[in-house]
Parts: sequence; structure tokens; C-alpha cells
Amino acid sequence: MNPCNLNQLGVTRAAPWAVGHFNIHNQEFIRAVVKAAESERSPAILAVGMMSVKYMGLEPLISACRSISRETSIPVAVHLDHARDLDIVKEALELGINSVMFDGSSLDFEDNVEKTTSVVQMAHEHGATAEGEIGIVPHGTASVSQAEMTDPALAVEFAERTGVDYLAVSLGSVHGMKSAGTSLDQGLLQQLHEQVPVPLVLHGASGVIDEQITMAIKNGIRKINVNTGLKVVLKSFLSKRLTEEPESDLLEDLGQGIDAVSESVAVRMRLFGSSNRT
Ligand code: 13P
Repeated sequence: MNPCNLNQLGVTRAAPWAVGHFNIHNQEFIRAVVKAAESERSPAILAVGMMSVKYMGLEPLISACRSISRETSIPVAVHLDHARDLDIVKEALELGINSVMFDGSSLDFEDNVEKTTSVVQMAHEHGATAEGEIGIVPHGTASVSQAEMTDPALAVEFAERTGVDYLAVSLGSVHGMKSAGTSLDQGLLQQLHEQVPVPLVLHGASGVIDEQITMAIKNGIRKINVNTGLKVVLKSFLSKRLTEEPESDLLEDLGQGIDAVSESVAVRMRLFGSSNRT
């Protein structure tokens, strides 16, 4: 069945667990996520973000994800993360991606509705799922302002008018944190989960403390996006390894780097409650 779309991963709006979305940048990250999916028997999302597209190219990344995901029978989706123009969505769908996120969070509401609606249509025509965003999850700032947090009435209207399968919301997390220290507005999340008819997505999870993640799943988060935390793991593993074993073979270093990232993914799968779901 692999690769599959988000609806085929087994997570639902009512399920008391969340699926992990792990940003991948090259074959080492892809192998690390698929290895953890196998060892944990956990569905997983391989997410292709814009920086990685710049680094490796859209087609090589999607092909590598599709090919490596076929090595396992555990459900794995390949998802485009934070697309901001319709052309890259179209290209990714034509290359066989299974899910796309359109990030119209910086647009005005009507423009976001219009562009997200066309992304949803394109995705569904290809048998893919679509995620939209309402509210703003900033990059690299210290905190999130009240105005950036998701407004429940707008979230309901947005989900109903666009037909998105998943909705990313802003609850206090920030993208790009190298360590965890952030809490979320759990009351706002409860309100959103009660009112919005589709599963909710948490972005910027690297910066969110474990207890808050656990509470967020209880309160309705069903997809959790992790990027920076995994880059930190690989970088610190490799810098230690290259210092301690300067004569080692590079492929052995990279192989052990895959294991280090995979263990970190597995720890997150257990935290998200997605282990042993397949
Ligand atoms: P982090 O880099 O903060 O983990 O955020 C990941 C993310 O939200 C990708 O969409």
C-alpha cells in the first residue's frame, strides 16, 4: 500500500493518539524514520519541506521517499510541508506525493480560503490528502502573540469552506526551537477540537515540552510536526563521532547517524501513542 495518504495511516479525529510528521532532508533521515516505523510498528509521515527541496530537489526527494517507504508494510505517507505556491503543489502531486500542506497563514483570510480550496481540489483529484493552516506559527521568535493564535470561529469557517482533511492551528508553539521549553494554550485547543470538524495539527513540536504534547493529544491534536529536534540529534551525534573516531569510515559514521535519529524518532512515536498501532 505504500506510500499512502494521511487518511490511510489509521489516525482519526476521535483516536486518542497522534501520528508523527518527521521532516526528512536526505536518504539518512528517510531511512531513520522508516526504521523507527518498523521497530515501533507505528505509522509515520515523511515530510518534504521547502529548505530540503532547495537542498536536494523535489523529484529526487519524493522518489527516495516513495522507494524507501515501499521497503516496509507499515503505513508511511509522503507529505509536502509548507508549500506557499500552487505550482509546487501541482508538481509534487504529479510526481506522486500522497499529501500536501498549503501554508496560506500569511495571506488574508479570503485569499487563504481561495488558494487552499484549489489545493484541496487538486490533491483529491490525485487521491491525496490536504492540510491547511489558520493562525500563525512563527519561525525562530521567542513567543506567539494573541493575534497569531488560531481564532476558533475562523478555523471552523475555513475547514468547512475549503474541505481540508487536516488543519494546522497556532496554540503557542514556534518553529525552529533547538530545545523544548514551550507550553501550549490547552483551553484554546479544547475549544478548537470541539468545534472544528477535521483532525488538528501541531507545528513546531521540537520546542514543546513532553507533558504539553501528552496533554495536547488528550485535547485533540492528531498530527505532530517535528523537524529541528531531529537535525540537532544528527548534528550532535556526528560532531561527537568525528572527534572521537577521526579515522572511521564515513559510511559507518552515517549508518550510526541513522540509528541515532531513528532512536529519537522512536522515542517520539512512543510519546505520541502511535507505537503498536499497526
Ligand atoms: P520544528 O522544526 O520546530 O520541529 O517544526 C517542524 C514543523 O512544524 C514542520 O512543519
